[in-house]
Amino acid sequence: MTATRPLRALLVNGSPHENGNTATALAEIAKTLEEEGIATELFWIGTKPLRGCIACGACRAKGLGRCVFADDACNALGDKFAAADAFVVGSPVYYGQPAGQLLALLQRAFFSHPGCVAGKPGASVAVCRRGGSTAAFECLNMPFQMQNCLLVCSQYWNIAFGREPGEAAKDAEGMQTMRTLARNLAWLAKNLNRDGAVPRPEGEPWTPTHFIR
Ligand SMILES: Cc1cc2nc3c(=O)[nH]c(=O)nc-3n(C[C@H](O)[C@H](O)[C@H](O)COP(=O)(O)O)c2cc1C
Repeated sequence: MTATRPLRALLVNGSPHENGNTATALAEIAKTLEEEGIATELFWIGTKPLRGCIACGACRAKGLGRCVFADDACNALGDKFAAADAFVVGSPVYYGQPAGQLLALLQRAFFSHPGCVAGKPGASVAVCRRGGSTAAFECLNMPFQMQNCLLVCSQYWNIAFGREPGEAAKDAEGMQTMRTLARNLAWLAKNLNRDGAVPRPEGEPWTPTHFIR
C-alpha cells in the first residue's frame, strides 16, 4: 500500500535522558516505522526548564496560536505535532506518573496549538524500572482521548522495563510491543493517506456546557 505522499512520524522523548530507556523504546518504534516507509523525527525535550501553563488564555483569546512564553520548547513542539502525520510520545515513569516536565510541555503545546493532533494516528509509551507504568500510560493517553486523535494500540499496553540507560532493550516482550505498535501505526497512517481513502469525519462546533445547563 502506498500513501499519496511521504509520511512523517514525530517521536517525542519526554525523558531528561537523551539516550535512556525511553529513547530505547522510541528507537525500536522508529526503526520499524522506517522499515514501513515512514520517515521519523525524534524530538527530545531536553533538560532545560519547562514552564507549566499559567492559563492566561492569550494563545486563544488573542488568536495567537502560540504560547506567549517563547523561551522554551513549547511552540516548536506544537508546530511539529501540527506538521506530523503520526506521533508517539514516550515518558519515563516517575512515582507512577509521566515525567512532570513532559506533562507541562504537552499541556501548553496542545492548548496553544488546537487541532495539532486531530485526525492523526498516535500513541504513548511509558518506561519504568518496576511499577506504575500502566497508570502513567493511561495518564499520557488522556489528552489524546479528547482531541479527536486516533489512538493506536499494540499487542499489550505500550510499556517497557529497564533502569539503567538502554536496559529496556533486554525487555524482549516490551520491544516486541513497540514494534507491533509501530506496524499498527504505520498501517493506519498509510490507509488514512492513500488514494481513495475515506475522508475523516466532519466535526460539530463545540458546545461547551461546563455542566451548567
Ligand atoms: C524521580 C524518579 C521517579 C521514579 N519513579 C519510578 C516509579 O514510580 N516506578 C518505576 O518503576 N520506576 C521509577 N523510576 C525509574 C525510571 O522510570 C526508570 O529508570 C526509567 O527507565 C527511566 O527512563 P529514562 O532512561 O528514559 O529516563 C523513577 C525514576 C526517577 C528519577
